[in-house]
Amino acid sequence: MERIARTRISDLLKREDFGTTVNVKGWVRTKRGSKQVAFIALNDGSTINNVQVVVDVAKFDDEMLRQITTGACISVNGELAASVGSGQKVELQASEIEILGLCGNEYPLQKKGHSLEFLREVAHLRPRTNTFGAVFRIRHNMAIAIHKFFHDRGFYYFHTPIITASDCEGAGQMFQVTTMDLANVPRKDGDGAVDYDNDFFGKPTSLTVSGQLEGELAATALGAIYTFGPTFRAENSNTPRHLAEFWMIEPEVAFNDIYDNMDLAEEFIKHCVRWALDNCRDDVQFLNDMFDKGLIARLESVLEGDFVRLKYTDGVEILEQAVAAGHKFEFPVYWGMDLASEHERFLVEDHFKRPVILTDYPKEIKAFYMKQNEDGKTVRAMDVLFPKIGEIIGGSEREADYDKLLTRIKELGIPMKDMWWYLDTRRFGTCPHSGFGLGFERLLLFVTGMANIRDVIPFPRTPRNAEF
Ligand code: 4AD
Ligand code: MG
Repeated sequence: MERIARTRISDLLKREDFGTTVNVKGWVRTKRGSKQVAFIALNDGSTINNVQVVVDVAKFDDEMLRQITTGACISVNGELAASVGSGQKVELQASEIEILGLCGNEYPLQKKGHSLEFLREVAHLRPRTNTFGAVFRIRHNMAIAIHKFFHDRGFYYFHTPIITASDCEGAGQMFQVTTMDLANVPRKDGDGAVDYDNDFFGKPTSLTVSGQLEGELAATALGAIYTFGPTFRAENSNTPRHLAEFWMIEPEVAFNDIYDNMDLAEEFIKHCVRWALDNCRDDVQFLNDMFDKGLIARLESVLEGDFVRLKYTDGVEILEQAVAAGHKFEFPVYWGMDLASEHERFLVEDHFKRPVILTDYPKEIKAFYMKQNEDGKTVRAMDVLFPKIGEIIGGSEREADYDKLLTRIKELGIPMKDMWWYLDTRRFGTCPHSGFGLGFERLLLFVTGMANIRDVIPFPRTPRNAEF
């Protein structure tokens, strides 16, 4: 076969230099046709769109053509031609075909329209489907959008550790990291407690639930930073919105108060949504048509107008009024409760019909580091609540006062030996500062319209599931 430099299908479909001989390589989506002519839909992952390869059967070996089945990998040289029937402007008139990889008929993606549940069981192959190709191209584009947003605004990308000895959120949902032999755990003499002196780090360590605490160290030095990395939570919640391993983006900014923080969050998330509409149009359109006819309209609606800003206390009042008017929630509504996603979605979807930034939550349901309000009951927390998702961002202004922070740490019984370095930021030139965390997969749920968080990350980690 003549050696011609490969053209990506996404580039090929934009070309108009008909008559040129080109090479494409990819995986066969479908093959159909007659005794005279075969049509092969070929995809190489560069775009949702296939190129149609037209094969004059008489010019090729029958046995070779027979072996080109769905899923097979082929290389095609051919002439670029104008197309009428393929749904594209161009097609390829094959002159030479080489089979790079045969595909046995036990290939699980033979037919179209597999359920998303089934595709999770073949997560090693599902990126080859139209749906997951679209989702993972969008996932990449969102990562680029995020780096660009922060870079353009003078934020520094700061790498925080994945293995840590402190529990940022204090929720006790950490995966332990150890090299100890669990069948023969070393014990201390006397009380028989686990002897971590002999463990790898000489003390108990875990996978991080958040890079925030180290992010605060960086913000109080570099001014404005963001993290973007994997985080881990051993929360046993089997819901369409929770993963045990997810990616989080955490900006942290010196001198920002809670209002600056809200402005940043709103601008950031609008930037991401706009980026998806502007840069992932084919994929978003495909997901809109296939799964969620309201997707594009919902993305556009978020860009129009301002997010609602509302205090927790006022939000609870709205929910109480809804209950009084006969609305049924699964979980009870009262001041002091943590909002369930049904409550968040009621405010966003039924009441305001807009994204909502809910602020000033009771301190008991929020983490130790949040700035305490004058009322002694609430903290300067902010959650951004989104249609279909509920909480997409959680953040706060941070407690900058050393004594108040220390008092809270003691009240909650957080061990000082884990926190001395964090408290040092408040001892040495403390400053007001704020930040938040965006769950990357929650953003992707919103932008792709997928209903289950397991379908926006290549290899989901959830309770009792770590396959692939
Ligand atoms: O609200 P969270 O727990 O806040 C923090 O971790 C703070 N340290 C962030 C900060 O202020 N720097 O988590 C932040 C976001 C949530 O709003 C949600 O979008 C996502 O992370 N998230 C999860 N996403 C998927 N699976 C889970 N189990 C998640 N837990 C939180
Ligand atoms: Mg939260």
